[in-house]
Amino acid sequence: MNTESKTDAPAQPELVEQVRRLGPWFHNIEVAPGIFTKEIAPAPGPQPLNHPEPRWEKVKSALPEDMTGMSVLDAGCSDGFFSIKMAGRGASRILAVDGAAEPIKRMNWVIDHFGLENVEAKVQMLDRSSARKLGKFDLVFAMAVFYHMRDPITGIEMLASLGDRLLLETIVVPDHRDTYFKVKQPGGERGVPRLIPSTACLEMLMRWAGYDEITQLTDESDSRPIYLCVRNRPGS
Ligand SMILES: C[S@@+](CC[C@H](N)C(=O)[O-])C[C@H]1O[C@@H](n2cnc3c(N)ncnc32)[C@H](O)[C@@H]1O
Repeated sequence: MNTESKTDAPAQPELVEQVRRLGPWFHNIEVAPGIFTKEIAPAPGPQPLNHPEPRWEKVKSALPEDMTGMSVLDAGCSDGFFSIKMAGRGASRILAVDGAAEPIKRMNWVIDHFGLENVEAKVQMLDRSSARKLGKFDLVFAMAVFYHMRDPITGIEMLASLGDRLLLETIVVPDHRDTYFKVKQPGGERGVPRLIPSTACLEMLMRWAGYDEITQLTDESDSRPIYLCVRNRPGS
């Protein structure tokens, strides 16, 4: 799939203005040579300006170079950086969902800008009931979304119901021995407390959800580990 911009794409000043109006951007997407979304209108937060390129560097070798024939669910896609990368590898169908409307608006603009026919983005808060209507995917791609789920047990069960292969990046308490959740204080007045699993707890949850092949792609001490989880006995 071609991720070069369409030939009828707007001229540079107009393009920059469109990007600025759609912002602020969480993802830094190159929409034309040298024109990056987040550099024009960055979202506030601790992420670097080139977010999430460093995360893509960590996961890309775990994905097939040629994803032709694969269906992918990009869960909590935000502005769609990862979907665009996987579209570039030829994935046949990508459904990108996010519970928030603003990133989906930006992503739909990107889809249109690049003329991506096999990527669909929609506002969808993933939970057990909405997941049942989505069907199954060859790959469930869940970067930085699992820790947003109020209940990690229901969350992993829901992600596992969507397919037999899961790429999961999340926050853990780096502890490979004991299984527990740490309750993390919410930021701001209305923030919801988060249940952060220890590494051992997360791995236990993944096995419980039915994955029998669990590969950690990051190094042992990483507090943002990335896992490739495969269920070789579908339906188990
Ligand atoms: C920290 S951002 C991560 C975005 C992107 N996956 C990445 O790694 O850069 C989390 C995103 O997940 C979305 N989100 C949180 N909970 C969700 C849920 N249950 N279903 C769908 N989207 C969700 C948020 O709106 C937000 O855009």
